[in-house]
Amino acid sequence: MNIRIRQARPEDLPSIAALEAACFPAAEAADSAAFEQRIKTFPESFFVAEVEGQIVGMINGCVTDDETISDILFEDSSRHHPDGRYQSIFGLDVLPDWQHKGIATILMTYLIHKAMDSGREGLILTCKERLISFYESFGYQNLGVSASTHGGAVWYDMLLAF
Ligand SMILES: CC(C)(COP(=O)(O)OP(=O)(O)OC[C@H]1O[C@@H](n2cnc3c(N)ncnc32)[C@H](O)[C@@H]1OP(=O)(O)O)[C@@H](O)C(=O)NCCC(=O)NCCS
Repeated sequence: MNIRIRQARPEDLPSIAALEAACFPAAEAADSAAFEQRIKTFPESFFVAEVEGQIVGMINGCVTDDETISDILFEDSSRHHPDGRYQSIFGLDVLPDWQHKGIATILMTYLIHKAMDSGREGLILTCKERLISFYESFGYQNLGVSASTHGGAVWYDMLLAF
């Protein structure tokens, strides 16, 4: 399997929106307008995984001085501080047919190295309970239940401090 990781581009929007819809329930999925804004605001931390030209996965998030993710961070692009302390992760998605092949691990590892190279203090994300151990395998610590109620779900704050 030949996987290529590259920055997302505006013309990827239809594939990106379809990937998100395949991975998340409607209440939690970001829409095309949100992704358009993210690509415009932080292209340097929005990556897709391609196999033979098909987008099969993605990882993205703004850079912030906040130590945890709040719902406002998703909505307010002015909170992206290119020189901020933490790389956040808004989304990590892999198409169902391509899951369990290590693609999310490749994307996460790629962004962790980018964050290190950029001099960040670490990475932050929120996840559901079932994925806590997946993120702990990269060195993330579980900080407990998040203030985020995104999509009406219960989320956990995860921090990977360098
Ligand atoms: C979570 C997700 C990104 C993982 O993608 P992936 O490419 O399958 O992950 P990897 O192959 O790198 O996973 C490596 C290991 O992590 C663990 N893991 C991966 N997905 C998991 C899941 N959904 N639940 C529990 N453990 C999981 C497993 O131990 C897995 O090993 P295995 O494939 O031998 O079972 C993918 O399942 C997905 O897109 N899910 C829907 C969207 C989502 O929930 N994203 C996370 C938002 S916080």
